[in-house]
Amino acid sequence: MPTSPLRRDFLWGVSTSAYQVEGAAHEDGRGPSIWDTRCRTKGGVVDGSNGDVAADHYHRYAEDIALMKDLGVGAYRFSVAWPRVLPRGRDVVNEAGLDFYDRLIDGLLAAGIEPWLTLYHWDLPQALEDQGGWTNRDCAGWFADYAVLVARRYGDRVKRFATFNEFSVFTLFGYAINWAAPGVTDGPSHLRAIHHVNLAHGAGVDVLRSLVPGALIGAIHNRQQVLPEHGRPENEEAAALLDEHWNLAFPDPQILGYYPPRLARAIEPYVQAGDMARICRPTDWFGLNHYGPIFAKADPDTTWGFGWGEAPSGSPDYGVGWPVFPDAFRDELLRLTRRYRLPVYITENGCGGSEDAPDATGQVNDPHRITYLRLYNQAMMDAIRGGGDVRGYFVWSLLDNFEWGSGYTQRFGLVHVDFATGQRTPKASARWYAERIRAQKEERTRA
Ligand code: FCB
Repeated sequence: MPTSPLRRDFLWGVSTSAYQVEGAAHEDGRGPSIWDTRCRTKGGVVDGSNGDVAADHYHRYAEDIALMKDLGVGAYRFSVAWPRVLPRGRDVVNEAGLDFYDRLIDGLLAAGIEPWLTLYHWDLPQALEDQGGWTNRDCAGWFADYAVLVARRYGDRVKRFATFNEFSVFTLFGYAINWAAPGVTDGPSHLRAIHHVNLAHGAGVDVLRSLVPGALIGAIHNRQQVLPEHGRPENEEAAALLDEHWNLAFPDPQILGYYPPRLARAIEPYVQAGDMARICRPTDWFGLNHYGPIFAKADPDTTWGFGWGEAPSGSPDYGVGWPVFPDAFRDELLRLTRRYRLPVYITENGCGGSEDAPDATGQVNDPHRITYLRLYNQAMMDAIRGGGDVRGYFVWSLLDNFEWGSGYTQRFGLVHVDFATGQRTPKASARWYAERIRAQKEERTRA
């Protein structure tokens, strides 16, 4: 058997986000977020559900830490809910909300699991949205003030910070396509949101750097190769434009200091003197969320003239329900290492499923997820052998949870959650992951 190319300190983890798992939406002073609003908007979520209870992580976090311990992970990536700690987004602090993350962080540290804290995983306080949200340039300053609160409160125990999760997903889907909150479809609003979120990232990095000694600061980007849907020549330009929006609009200005060419022209009216230097701040690591490639087609009826295309028929899917292309993952990891020259952590990778359920004996068998994770882990190892600087891997997700616009119709967890009772049952994939981690640790001890 070839020896593992993983570093000795390679980090295995699991990821969640606040709105998707916490629940307790109306408890202990939490304020509403734009996702509470979207869930109550007709058509906002396919099954008409919401995150009011979700996986009830707010109350069951100790049980969830024990599940992580059983997996053997070294890190837990979670997000702080901005409206839980600042119910109106600014000014008035909610101590009870802050206390929750104290308990969570202390519990993780006691279990030997490193807390990885994401400041923003899509749940903007509704009170800030009412003042224009990300389309308002002031939102960057509101975000920086929120970062100060988090840094001062947790910076003695948390050293790993991500400013944002998947910049391009929440801005593109939230302001151009209406697949996410706040559900706007307007080009200028979208361009403003992109630029202001980039400014907020830069301001957040500065806050963390100045207030948290020894902080290791990164940002989490979704990057997926964009391929033109087969058939029409105009799909090529659609793919090139979607690539700028999806893959480049945030990491390029943040790490390289410039917007990609098509976007740079469009965004110019919103850029003020000194902005690019405010956005481009040194960071310590690159967080990659990756699931599979995406396909673009020209569609004149959309905000930017591109839409989501179909994968070629016959693409391998292994029962996952979407095309599975581990080679695209390997290539992405290599591309990232070359382009941005930062250590890469895979902060999300995993696979959904609508069928996961306990069988007659109470076991949850999810062979499709094991196949997916195995193939993607293999691709990661190939990337590392080829020179990719990959330092860690986090599965999305620890728990079945509220999957945004898909509500509770898609289960991404290694652990099954009965949403009626909150009961947790580790799936077969959880055992696979625990074994993967154990084998790697054993190999490390032998080496
Ligand atoms: C990513 C999100 C995460 C989850 C997974 C399935 O785009 O960051 O919250 O919804 O997809």
